[in-house]
Amino acid sequence: MPDHLPRRQVLRTAGALGLGAAAAGALQSTAGAAPEARVAAMGSHHGRLQIRKDPFGTTPEGVKVDVYTFTNGRVTISMLTWGATIQRVETPDRRGRTKNISLGFDNLPDYAALSPYFGATVGRYGNRIAKGKFTLDGQSYQIPINNGENALHGGTIGFDKKVWKAKVVQTDKAVGVAFTYVSPDGEMGFPGDLTSTVSYTLDKQDNLRIDYLATVAGKPTVINLTNHVYFNLTGEGTGSIDGTVLQLNAPSYTPVDAGLIPTGEIAPVAGTPFDFTKATAIGKRIRDDHPQLVIGRGYDHNFVLGGKPDGDGVRFAARFWEPEDGRTVTVHTSQPGAQFYTGNFLDASFQGIGNKSYRQGDAFAFETQHFPDSPNQPNFPSTTLRPGQTYTSTTIYTFDTK
Ligand code: GLA
Repeated sequence: MPDHLPRRQVLRTAGALGLGAAAAGALQSTAGAAPEARVAAMGSHHGRLQIRKDPFGTTPEGVKVDVYTFTNGRVTISMLTWGATIQRVETPDRRGRTKNISLGFDNLPDYAALSPYFGATVGRYGNRIAKGKFTLDGQSYQIPINNGENALHGGTIGFDKKVWKAKVVQTDKAVGVAFTYVSPDGEMGFPGDLTSTVSYTLDKQDNLRIDYLATVAGKPTVINLTNHVYFNLTGEGTGSIDGTVLQLNAPSYTPVDAGLIPTGEIAPVAGTPFDFTKATAIGKRIRDDHPQLVIGRGYDHNFVLGGKPDGDGVRFAARFWEPEDGRTVTVHTSQPGAQFYTGNFLDASFQGIGNKSYRQGDAFAFETQHFPDSPNQPNFPSTTLRPGQTYTSTTIYTFDTK
């Protein structure tokens, strides 16, 4: 593990020792629960690592959706089979008060109708493809347009709107779920039968590790999988993230045109509001007179990460620190880039999981990824996946306090 990962404090406050109230409720004894809810012996021989499964809802087509809740006794994550979605992330603040810091909903219809990708696993191609068009080995493909004149996050019905198969992963070191989705050739216009398995595991050191693995059969394709969790480190629904401090390992970024498609330029951040190489509050320069901040309505840009993944396959990408409550989220990734998005399109038009509406700038997302529109940008790292090749990537979110 790289040495940038925050070290755990040895002493915990009393509040942090046990589960938060919500987590304790979610993980209460499964003795009376239906057999399918007892997916794993709760805390039997895995220390404090526990997982359970509960019904969450049914799609209009009659497909059942489950919620898996897993914990290490300090951090508790809930994930839906709908979109392999992170629904809740409960972490203690520096005084041991546990809150959900991730935006979401408490019901399936809201996810299906309203969600701007809250916590979802995004595919087959996360972020934008200009006009939804690309050419691969001389063949032209058209993805349905769903964002201005472009295709966003895999087209109109992306992986975020699919019910994934789930398999519990439990070792003595970590607990979580491996989600699998098979996308047939031609779905959303993409070529090739793509099998994706994304495993989300929480370890005892408060690392949520996301391992992506995919193979394609029949035809080559393009792929860009990510997760679109939105965080507010003082708790979802608590207002602006302007005060959250960000340090970003990104010497450059990819400026965009009015449709948020990269111009192809890889621009240095030095001397611009995009320079977070030194820890800076997100809101400090977000209203500055910079054309890219106007186009993005804030930050909605792909950052080009510095350095190379080390022996563990990942490198430090970013650390978010909330001075008020002390929560930090540190991100390591194998990916070359990350879309840093400051919730610019949240407009208070619905209530989230805590019955609070979300307004512009009430959360941030950090979508580790290949660069947007790579299929049309020859100078960007390739997103082509061919039969016989295996796509892998890893991103680790570490939850701590400071
Ligand atoms: C990504 C995009 C944003 C926005 C969100 C979802 O972050 O870059 O422009 O579309 O997804 O609302």
